[in-house]
Amino acid sequence: MLEADDLELTRRTVLVGSAASVAATAVPVTAEAQPPAPPSPAMARVAFVVNGREHALELDTRTTLLDALREHLRLTGTKKGCDHGQCGACTVIVDGRRINSCLTLAVMHEGDRITTIEGLGTPEALHPMQAAFIKHDGYQCGYCTPGQICSAVAVLDEIKAGIPSHVSADLTARPRATNMELRERMSGNICRCGAYSNIAEAMAEVAGVKA
Ligand code: FES
Ligand code: FES
Repeated sequence: MLEADDLELTRRTVLVGSAASVAATAVPVTAEAQPPAPPSPAMARVAFVVNGREHALELDTRTTLLDALREHLRLTGTKKGCDHGQCGACTVIVDGRRINSCLTLAVMHEGDRITTIEGLGTPEALHPMQAAFIKHDGYQCGYCTPGQICSAVAVLDEIKAGIPSHVSADLTARPRATNMELRERMSGNICRCGAYSNIAEAMAEVAGVKA
């Protein structure tokens, strides 16, 4: 029959034994679970012209054009909405074409000419599209507005250049700045405040057509 001392000894032995086996199994698992050290980011130099000024940057190659503009050049007029190419808030004009700056890497733009909302006009000398947005209340909170305006400027240039859209009935005819054409071409620029009709009116005025 076990005495009290024997019981105590047995309990202690079991506890020590359990702790030892936990430690024995835990140590190698922890060591194996250590993730490998992340590779240091690859850096690259890129030079481009933004709003008429030359810039040379040393960037992590994963930096998007949007982050290069906002975080490195402090041009925060260009907005980050979704960061996934779905909202158009980050639209800028590169070599005359509008793009979502969140979907392109900065290092892919060596030598490019980039225009952001800061380069379109100034408070003293607004771009006609900026003035029309103000006149027609083409915004409410304003978060999407820099992207909308950059897009709107490029859309009118696309129409002038004869580039058709998905709603152009005749692909061989020169497109016109109809309400349908303007809305279709602006469909990649989302406005949470729903200022779409006013944006279309502003664009129509600049295009010299009836909304
Ligand atoms: Fe680029 Fe939304 S932030 S599309
Ligand atoms: Fe608010 Fe367009 S004005 S999201």
